[in-house]
Amino acid sequence: MRSPRLTKAVIPVGGLGTRFLPATKAIPKEMLPVIDKPAIQYVVEESVTVGLTDILMVTGRNKRSLEDHFDRNLEIEETLARRGDEAQLLRVRESSDLVSLHYVRQGAAKGVGHAVLCAQPHVGNEPFAVLLGDDLIDPRDPLLDRMIAVQERCGGSVVALMEVDPRDIHLYGCAAVVPTDEADVVRITGLVEKPGPGEAPSTCAVIGRFVLHPGIFDVIRGTRPGRGGEIQLTDALDSLSRSRTAHAPVHGVLFSGRRYDTGDRADYLRTIVRLACERGDLGPDFRAWLAAFVSHDFHETR
Ligand code: G1P
Repeated sequence: MRSPRLTKAVIPVGGLGTRFLPATKAIPKEMLPVIDKPAIQYVVEESVTVGLTDILMVTGRNKRSLEDHFDRNLEIEETLARRGDEAQLLRVRESSDLVSLHYVRQGAAKGVGHAVLCAQPHVGNEPFAVLLGDDLIDPRDPLLDRMIAVQERCGGSVVALMEVDPRDIHLYGCAAVVPTDEADVVRITGLVEKPGPGEAPSTCAVIGRFVLHPGIFDVIRGTRPGRGGEIQLTDALDSLSRSRTAHAPVHGVLFSGRRYDTGDRADYLRTIVRLACERGDLGPDFRAWLAAFVSHDFHETR
């Protein structure tokens, strides 16, 4: 019998965000703004768009501002209502009207695999999605819908993959893959987290979207700390992809759309510039300024 469509999503947000210190000393990196919304709101919106409305955030010591963001702020709302500022009122309510969120604390930041394991009591025994908060997927290039369809058809787990420059593969989980009948779907035969020189089986990088079989929980429990001393989801998926249990197989969906890595400082800046250029309200002025800056001011001030 065909399983009912997935509704559960897990978003790990307990990382320390060391690349953005000191900005992330008191707030989680997922709360850093991408123009006028925190990065995490884009991820929650993506989840809701594909019907994943039962969202669990696996948080760390920094849960407070995340909870506040997705809750109502009556003081701000009343002030805006008094001023008759309907537009801003709608913007402020957007995040609290989206969906009701659940939270669990990870205790210590012991890696993405450990964060996923913390979700087991909430997820139970059904397939679920995992969205990493650093990776923004452009809503014009839907990915999760395709991954859910592949999981429903093939069972097992599905990982989002993207071709990257060979010089960058050491920054990602990397998959050994074999083709299937469908051009954008591959079978994963092994995975390596952040491969060292000569260790990468391909240039297929794991990006932050997964649809997982609940059998992953037992596998994570048996996974020893890997790269960086953390329990890596990549390592658990590697075991799964090599096993012949009912939890296998592991498939990859090859994504060729727009992805923004807000966990990297340079990419974070590129994301903001790119999205600002495309915005109807800010775009025209910003593009004109940027073009002038790049062609004139930038060269003058060097
Ligand atoms: C995590 C995963 C890695 C994946 C990456 C995608 O690494 O561990 O396998 O390729 O996300 O963004 P992080 O970027 O958190 O170090």
